[in-house]
Amino acid sequence: MFKARWYFRCGSWIPNEREWTKAADILIPEEKQRIGKFKYQKDAKSSLSGRLLIRKAARDICNIPHQSQHPKRTDAGKPYLQIGDSNHIRAFNVSHSGDLVVLAGDFSHPDVDIGVDVMRIEWPSRTTVPDYFHTMRRQFTESEWQVIRRPTDEWDKMHVFYRFWCLKESYVKAIGVGLGIDLQRLEFHTKESNRGADVVCTTQLFKDGNLQPDWMFEESYIDDNHCVAVALNQNSVIPQTCVDRFIELTSEDLFRDLPEALNPDVKYWREYAGKEARPQSKRKPSS
Ligand SMILES: CC(C)(COP(=O)(O)OP(=O)(O)OC[C@H]1O[C@@H](n2cnc3c(N)ncnc32)[C@H](O)[C@@H]1OP(=O)(O)O)[C@@H](O)C(=O)NCCC(=O)NCCS
Repeated sequence: MFKARWYFRCGSWIPNEREWTKAADILIPEEKQRIGKFKYQKDAKSSLSGRLLIRKAARDICNIPHQSQHPKRTDAGKPYLQIGDSNHIRAFNVSHSGDLVVLAGDFSHPDVDIGVDVMRIEWPSRTTVPDYFHTMRRQFTESEWQVIRRPTDEWDKMHVFYRFWCLKESYVKAIGVGLGIDLQRLEFHTKESNRGADVVCTTQLFKDGNLQPDWMFEESYIDDNHCVAVALNQNSVIPQTCVDRFIELTSEDLFRDLPEALNPDVKYWREYAGKEARPQSKRKPSS
């Protein structure tokens, strides 16, 4: 099995000093510094958890030992692993939202472009749903907005909004361009609801009005409040069946087989331990 669809509830993970220093020990200096700069523990935990998921996937699925994994990023920021001088692993992607961090990896095919996006369904902060949609109007096409606005219930509208958000982000992340794409060029056509128990793979992407038959999207829910989309370019090889749902990994799973820190960076731990846990949570707007 060369695929990974994993999630980790980093929101409920309360790291101890041993875990934090052990995890920090495998980071390259740039990542360690970046994670150290987060204002809230929540964000530092999410980002660090993503690094741990990547390491675990490379070790467990690709049999690459830790010491041979050299984390890199493309110019646009997409992570990949350099393996030795000439090899690399790039068929994975990470996303975080709410209390979750997810990793999608497809390691059987060297040319797979893959992107993942998870979103927690939540009410807009300090505004109404119509006003929020108005501020986001450029992210989606007219036909996508018709589908988003179709439900009568506002919470259902938010679900559809985040469905399209995940689809767009998953594609943008698969091609790895970051902010460098006009989202109006992309239009998703959904064929069935993504709110059942199964993984939905029937959604189609049109780019500049043309169907993109090489692209496949796996849409599912991790729990009632988190939807996720995986975008895959199979270079014309469309798989016959969908993959399984995302499975949960625990902190034990992430730390198992991770080498002990040779020189635990206690200062790094103390800086983390002294941060505020998270910003104030968002609430449903009053009607
Ligand atoms: C980086 C970006 C691609 C995704 O960011 P995001 O949705 O805020 O965050 P996610 O949690 O889903 O993903 C972040 C992770 O994606 C990965 N990532 C970073 N840059 C990436 C890139 N160019 N391509 C793919 N993955 C990238 C990293 O692993 C990052 O986590 P890390 O910083 O802890 O390593 C985003 O900055 C972006 O540029 N989005 C543009 C598209 C847009 O405007 N969408 C609006 C909604 S339709």
